[in-house]
Amino acid sequence: MKILLIGSGGRESAFAWKLSQSPQCEELFIAPGNAGTGQYGTNVDLKVTDFAGIKDLVLAKGIGMVLVGPEEPLVKGIHDFFLNDEQLKSVPVIGPQQEGAQLEGSKDFSKQFMQRNNVPTAASRTFTADTLQDGLDYLATQGLPIVLKADGLAAGKGVLICLSLQEAQQELTEMLTQAKFGEASSKVVVEQFLQGIELSVFVLTDGNSYKILPEAKDYKRIGEGDTGLNTGGMGSVSPVPFADADFMQKVEQRIVIPTVEGLKKEGIPYKGFIFVGLMNCDGEPYTIEYNCRMGDPETESVMPRIESDLVDLLQGVAEGNLHERELRISNKVAATVMCVAGGYPGEYLKNKVMSGLENVRGSIAFHAGTAKQGDEVITTGGRVIAVTSLQDDMFTALQQATLDASRIYYDGKYFRKDIGFDLI
Ligand code: AMP
Ligand code: GLY
Repeated sequence: MKILLIGSGGRESAFAWKLSQSPQCEELFIAPGNAGTGQYGTNVDLKVTDFAGIKDLVLAKGIGMVLVGPEEPLVKGIHDFFLNDEQLKSVPVIGPQQEGAQLEGSKDFSKQFMQRNNVPTAASRTFTADTLQDGLDYLATQGLPIVLKADGLAAGKGVLICLSLQEAQQELTEMLTQAKFGEASSKVVVEQFLQGIELSVFVLTDGNSYKILPEAKDYKRIGEGDTGLNTGGMGSVSPVPFADADFMQKVEQRIVIPTVEGLKKEGIPYKGFIFVGLMNCDGEPYTIEYNCRMGDPETESVMPRIESDLVDLLQGVAEGNLHERELRISNKVAATVMCVAGGYPGEYLKNKVMSGLENVRGSIAFHAGTAKQGDEVITTGGRVIAVTSLQDDMFTALQQATLDASRIYYDGKYFRKDIGFDLI
């Protein structure tokens, strides 16, 4: 089968690496991909939201399955576009339709979904410009810190944790009346702050049955010791030591099953990944958010631990017989260290020539923001390259990934040397 993978980040490099190992993958195309995905298949220069261009490619190449990496095309309805097109409707798309993608595309939708289906989550209320005064009054009745979330997609920037009532009231006013996050903040979810430690749980579903993939922990802050600005993710590890069997049993019973059953009961078709962002509060799991895709850089730690054929699992999703497919997970530990561009997550350096990739020996280098320029690899994004090592124990995996990350060079390179060491 010919497969098209949509996206261009480290997540897509990890997907491409895994898909290309399948005997069922006859040919792999990545749109648009990066310098790394080009090792596993053919990059095609198309925007992830260029549905017409994607259609032409699928028809021209005889593509038999499409895997969508990022949320934007899903929230914009790429799966619905395929289903509504006579020539495309028989080509399975892995990733939910627009309605299911609202689990990520609208925080208000996802909170209401959790409440209707008794999925444990922080108490919350949603406000609009018309109900601003109610929102300001509500804030005055709440404890601190308090969390404000822009309803729509805001490139990971729409969540504010406010430490004082004055700050919360001012931010709520700016979000609702001055479009602080554009259209995304025309509705704002005000949510109780959860104290605990975060992790990411990944579910693959065909809309009926599900499989829980390896969980991972993501490190979001730019600085060592979890300090400084939020980023897309500076590293990840899988498995997560505190997500023991007892905890994961609670996650499955209280969150995964009610979520998959809730989608079914409400008639929301869903074929793809559900990423559950969780807070472990004293051993009890609470849902912070859903995403309608895999995480990045979590995918870079999750894919190497999946021993089964990913294409076979995705075919199970497409055909609605996922329960018949096998998911085998390695007991080894995967650690991922993300190398970023100088200046990231602010204004960052670009077009720097990369060297040293050939010295990465005990890890896989998953390109994130890179491109080919002649024979050279240059940096193009804030998150540049994710280095993942799979080893028998966490210490060795972390040490090896950190060592290999130090073997790559480009002007302005930065990476955290403390990823995962808090868990040992
Ligand atoms: P989200 O975009 O919903 O993932 O939120 C971004 C980050 O804000 C999360 O990864 C958490 O670190 C933090 N966060 C979101 N909601 C809460 C909450 N209710 N309590 C504590 N931290 C939160
Ligand atoms: N690493 C978090 C995310 O992909 O949203």
